[in-house]
Amino acid sequence: DWIMGNYIEEAVARIREQVGDEEVILGLSGGVDSSVAAALIHRAIGDQLTCVFVDHGLLRLNEGKMVMEMFAGRLQAKVVHVDASAQFLGHLQGVTDPEQKRKIIGREFVEVFKAEAAKLKAAGADVKGAKWLAQGTIYPDVVESGGTKTKKATTIKSHHNVGGLPEQLGLKLLEPLRELFKDEVRELGVALGLPPDMVYRHPFPGPGLGVRILGEVKPEFALLLQRADAIFIEELRATIDPATGKSWYDLTSQAFTVFLPVKSVGVMGDGRTYDYVVALRAVQTSDFMTADWAELPYSLLKRVSGRIINEVRGINRVTYDVSSKPPATIEWE
Ligand code: XMP
Repeated sequence: DWIMGNYIEEAVARIREQVGDEEVILGLSGGVDSSVAAALIHRAIGDQLTCVFVDHGLLRLNEGKMVMEMFAGRLQAKVVHVDASAQFLGHLQGVTDPEQKRKIIGREFVEVFKAEAAKLKAAGADVKGAKWLAQGTIYPDVVESGGTKTKKATTIKSHHNVGGLPEQLGLKLLEPLRELFKDEVRELGVALGLPPDMVYRHPFPGPGLGVRILGEVKPEFALLLQRADAIFIEELRATIDPATGKSWYDLTSQAFTVFLPVKSVGVMGDGRTYDYVVALRAVQTSDFMTADWAELPYSLLKRVSGRIINEVRGINRVTYDVSSKPPATIEWE
């Protein structure tokens, strides 16, 4: 049976044996899988691991700071923070098509990561340079991309994957979570000392706010959306459902805010406003293939709406998305 302490010891021993005294690079996204992989590999080989955190400027509010505090701060791991927001936003300028935006973000991500990895690999100062690329691949990913083609025939949204990267970089692949299911990855993360808040987070798409700002991604839209979304998430975490004793964050599978590049009229004090609209989205699902919109309490929606409109100047209207999947998708793009 599953005894986490023993599992960690075995996994650590396996990683040490595999890697020896060579250096490892890992792409840290702030998501559960790469975070747990980083914590486990760091436990095994300490400073032989360098994490590369590519910040595309389309993350949640303060995400970059949190990732750095957690990994560079608390875990004392080597982390390179690449602030590539100007580069990503530059390439996205004038682009409105969702698939095009995904492609650009995916491509830039690979470019930036490759450049950083090449630098680390060439770094003579570190004696050898990296020989391994670590990824937080988990068992369901292995099954999905393996010989057994369980993939859908039609691709609704092209999720950018980083396949082929190790070959392109001339690195060996290290995937210590390959045998684990999501629940096990989460348990492992907690056992490794990662905060449960981080380990039990809702999923966040690779292209991030790039697909939650409808149409053209403008830096000022991203700033408004980050602030509005932070309020929504904060209130979901703070609001406990009396029937279950759980927070509405834990009662939903995914919840986020969408920025609509549409202006509507409002009134504030004696004045007329003409500002942007956001939509709140919260769903319950077991597999993300189908999903129901969550019946959040009106009192919660009211508090979120009031706070967003009062605290985020530039947004004067909040709506709630009551569409299920299918026929709507979870994300708006
Ligand atoms: P949809 O919108 O297709 O989303 O109902 C299903 C799940 O997939 C996530 N999603 C993405 N994840 N890259 C990702 O890494 C993407 O391009 C992408 N698009 C959607 C979405 O957040 C939800 O969990």
